[in-house]
Amino acid sequence: MTVAPLRDPASGSSEAGPAYDRADWASAFRNVTVELDDVPLTAARGEVPAALKGTLYRNGPGRLERGGHWVHHPFDGDGMITALRFDAGRVQLRNRFVRTEGWQAEETAGRYLYRGVFGTAKPGGWLANAFDLRLKNIANTHVVRLGDQLLALWEAAEPHALDPDTLETRGLSRLGGLLKPGEAFSAHPRFDPGHHGAPRMVTFGVKSGPRSTIRLMEFATDGPEAGSLLSERRDTFPGFAFLHDFALTPDWAVFLQNAIAFQPLPYLLGQAGAAQCLKSKPGARGSFWLIPREGGAHAGEPPRIFEAPEGFVFHHLNAFQEGDEVVVDSIFYADFPSIGPDTDFRAIDFDTIPEGQLVRCRLNLATGSVSSERLNERCCEFAMVNPARQGLPARYGWMAVAERERGNDPLQALMKLDLASGERRVWSAAPRGFVSEPVMVPRPGAAAEDDGWLLCVVWNGARCASDLVILDAASMAEVAVVELPLAIPYGLHGSFVAA
Ligand code: CO
Repeated sequence: MTVAPLRDPASGSSEAGPAYDRADWASAFRNVTVELDDVPLTAARGEVPAALKGTLYRNGPGRLERGGHWVHHPFDGDGMITALRFDAGRVQLRNRFVRTEGWQAEETAGRYLYRGVFGTAKPGGWLANAFDLRLKNIANTHVVRLGDQLLALWEAAEPHALDPDTLETRGLSRLGGLLKPGEAFSAHPRFDPGHHGAPRMVTFGVKSGPRSTIRLMEFATDGPEAGSLLSERRDTFPGFAFLHDFALTPDWAVFLQNAIAFQPLPYLLGQAGAAQCLKSKPGARGSFWLIPREGGAHAGEPPRIFEAPEGFVFHHLNAFQEGDEVVVDSIFYADFPSIGPDTDFRAIDFDTIPEGQLVRCRLNLATGSVSSERLNERCCEFAMVNPARQGLPARYGWMAVAERERGNDPLQALMKLDLASGERRVWSAAPRGFVSEPVMVPRPGAAAEDDGWLLCVVWNGARCASDLVILDAASMAEVAVVELPLAIPYGLHGSFVAA
């Protein structure tokens, strides 16, 4: 099965070259040098909406260099949390590094003491790195609120708990004894808005090997029980699993097992990071693994397995059920996008790396068949639906996209895509701005699915600093731009916690 081409009226309309200056793009790769305390900010343009109340938390690598030694890949940078608090038209900024064991030791030493999963080596060549298999839990991938904790997530080990107000690190969290020391805990929880009554946080951990086991966990998020485990199950599948994200419906947790092999020898020998030893299997197909959720129509049944289209997936947009079908919208790459051991990430050639494409797969539970279609051809990443539509049919998706209609470029624009009609609305930060993951925040009491705001931290290459951009989620018109007194490297994931 291959992905059917899209009938897009914009096809072939843009053959122009990239619309950005490479130096602007690369200027975001730097260390965060300050930690700010509740700095009040004013909008440089527009006005911060008075009805927007709560906190936008962002996580991402904040330290990319020590002692003149650069990380091999930004994903190896230590987690730094940014909190933007909105109240009655005002906004305040606070930021803190997560005080992980590795960050504290390296701050004291003034040099890297750990290898990074994405290829960062300790100084001293491969001899200094061989057989050092200690993982540095860098807590840099996502940040979510669970009960009275803010959790800084990194998928290969347990979360760090932070104070939601001060961002001070409370320490590694085993979630009240739920996790074993060092147990994997995904950086991609999904928030069920109430498919089975009260809202829940659903997440997983994966133990990979020749056979891989997924531990699926559902947590209460409201009331006095917030943070407590409501259900869990474990399922074992054949093969090595690389699972970064998953999707959710009322009945299913949906995983896409990429066709990928782990060849650990260069890692053991200190010549490459563990993630650089992931190799795509040419011609091989991945699989969808559907695990029945507790409380759903298939609770207690064994998982269902479907063949996936060719390609590699980090992130999903959403999933939902429609008759006999489970529909999954995912961002597919033609191959696993990795940075080789000899490549400087600041010098990567975007044309040699596959771009993300939004693809809809329909998994038929009655027949076992899978069909797929491309929803849009523009290079995209970091997509989401209105949080109230998580796991349900959604009309709109919001995502970061490239400025050009075709080809792989840095993400410079934000797009609202009508998933039914294909209609698009785009706000662009080009030529000198570079976007990160947008977060859609519904207006309190909103009836329409697109009534709310889109929040995004944008790298401003002209200022060499970060801006908070607030868009109207329906029209994609600019509502406000707030210039932050902070330069934040390209981030990973974040979430909005309503007041
Ligand atoms: Co992710």
